[in-house]
Amino acid sequence: MSEDRIFNTKRAHIVDFAFDENVVAVFPDMIRRSVPGYETVVPLTGLMAARHLQHGDTAYDLGCSLGATTLAILQQVHHDDVRVIGVDNAPAMIEQAQAQITDPRAQFICADLNEVAVSNAKVIVLNFVLQFLEPAARLPLLKRLRSQMRPDGLLIVSEKIRQDDPQRHEFFDATHLAWKRANGYSELEVSQKHQSLENVMRVDSEDIHQQRFADAGFAGVDQWFRCMNWASFVASPEKQ
Ligand SMILES: C[S@@+](CC[C@H](N)C(=O)[O-])C[C@H]1O[C@@H](n2cnc3c(N)ncnc32)[C@H](O)[C@@H]1O
Repeated sequence: MSEDRIFNTKRAHIVDFAFDENVVAVFPDMIRRSVPGYETVVPLTGLMAARHLQHGDTAYDLGCSLGATTLAILQQVHHDDVRVIGVDNAPAMIEQAQAQITDPRAQFICADLNEVAVSNAKVIVLNFVLQFLEPAARLPLLKRLRSQMRPDGLLIVSEKIRQDDPQRHEFFDATHLAWKRANGYSELEVSQKHQSLENVMRVDSEDIHQQRFADAGFAGVDQWFRCMNWASFVASPEKQ
């Protein structure tokens, strides 16, 4: 796994973060050292999804990057006729995912997830993706996903969480940045990456997430993982 050193030299101008070839080359190391709990969330997402998938079912991994979650699902599913469809709009991510994951049950599509129909989906995963979408597009997306997925389906969402109270927000934000330094990132790397994400990653509070799930019509919403200011939710399209 290549080490993420993307932000280790001083830049005259910080440009907005993009999921390009440079990021693809170091992505597994970057996300492992940047997202607290990532190495727990991915296999648990796989397990949860796999337990829900029966013969012939389809799961969607939206914003799949290199397909870590797609792979985690497939490792836990033992039916030959299950399909997991990974969608990402970064061509370099999809190319690499296709090269690395050769399981015939996996399919990768390079497309904007806002424009991909998820017909007959039994499981939909949005792991660390909503935060990169236009805020105004988030509720319409969840409403559409709910209307297109099966009534007995499962939605799994993981996100960074903003605290409404500024002091609590600062506490978790500062601790998160300290955790990144403890993982080997320098002060310069932490601060340049932070600036580069500023306009790209717009994080919601837990209340906003809960309200959006309700407004989109999801029921039985549970927060199943929390690590500092990072959380994972599971929801059903209808009351079970
Ligand atoms: C933090 S990564 C997701 C990590 C991945 N789900 C995992 O668990 O390894 C966010 C991904 O979302 C993708 N993305 C952002 N906006 C998107 C959109 N509108 N349509 C499809 N993919 C999108 C990015 O290209 C990037 O690969």
